[in-house]
Amino acid sequence: MEHFPLPELNDALIERYQPIQEKIAHLMPEEEWLTHLPWIEAINQRKQEIGAVILAHNYQTPEIFYGVADITGDSLALAQQATAVEENIIIQCGVHFMAETSKILNPEKTVIIPDERAGCSLADSITADGLRALKARYPGVPVVSYVNTTAEVKAETDVCCTSANAIDIVNALPAERIIFTPDRYLGQHVANHTDKEVILWDGACEVHEQFTGEQVRHFREESGAFIIAHPECPQDVLAEADYIGSTSGMIDHIARHQPQKVALITECSMSDNVSAQFPEIQFTRPCNLCPHMKRISLKNILRSLHELGPEVQVDEAVARKARRSVERMLEMSRKPAEKAA
Ligand code: 13P
Ligand code: SF4
Repeated sequence: MEHFPLPELNDALIERYQPIQEKIAHLMPEEEWLTHLPWIEAINQRKQEIGAVILAHNYQTPEIFYGVADITGDSLALAQQATAVEENIIIQCGVHFMAETSKILNPEKTVIIPDERAGCSLADSITADGLRALKARYPGVPVVSYVNTTAEVKAETDVCCTSANAIDIVNALPAERIIFTPDRYLGQHVANHTDKEVILWDGACEVHEQFTGEQVRHFREESGAFIIAHPECPQDVLAEADYIGSTSGMIDHIARHQPQKVALITECSMSDNVSAQFPEIQFTRPCNLCPHMKRISLKNILRSLHELGPEVQVDEAVARKARRSVERMLEMSRKPAEKAA
């Protein structure tokens, strides 16, 4: 890494980034922040030099989320923003399916993921062949797939969804039966909120699947916390939750209701990032890390900005079909005012 020049750590640099340091001081000791600072500055400089934009998911670590990201959000927000960015180089700080989604929506742009190994257990749980076989058993039944899928699976899908819009999309489709892939827990959550028959695929998120209803009851009894859970959690966890929503839905809910104590039943860094936004709220941190999200680091972001890779490529024929299912989701998620505009 030595060949990528790092700026000197001096008082001027420390002062310039002080507002961010103060914001996340409760999350990391000063010594750790100071080791990150030259990397953060080098990334921000390089980004400007080459005209790149950094998109970061809510599960990225605070030094990435607050230090270098230009756009942050849940899967839906990142997909929406990917269609609007002006820069020709997109650095996706998240997992591979997110970078693929950005590439599908921006075929002419350079989309880079700092570590190609950043996968997802949900995306790995289903293949295009597997989905074709399921479709053959239910001819004519529309397929809704979570965006946590490969481009090949999206190409076999009628409409994509995220955790933020899954229920609305299933309810809006003019069919009485829906195939829902690949997350069986999100799928069951959708099935509980629709009159339609939902045919499920048997996938799960390795991070959210670890939470148990008993654990959540324990958090509530110990701390009296308001329980907010991601719909990728098992049903007994969701049954204990006061609010269920996507990662951005969680933030909106906290902003609107300002509970005194909150337990976020989702990936670990999410609680860190949200706690920095709401210093007056007490967060209980049940800590399950997503090993794939954690592959992205300041070091590999800087390397990717210098090497302009690893670049994400999607076969054009696959991308064309996958784009239809993603764009259909974006169209169905537009607010009425946006549709009229
Ligand atoms: P969100 O769309 O809620 O951000 O979820 C993405 C994800 O991978 C959760 O594990
Ligand atoms: Fe995939 Fe789960 Fe990690 Fe989200 S948290 S990226 S669903 S493995």
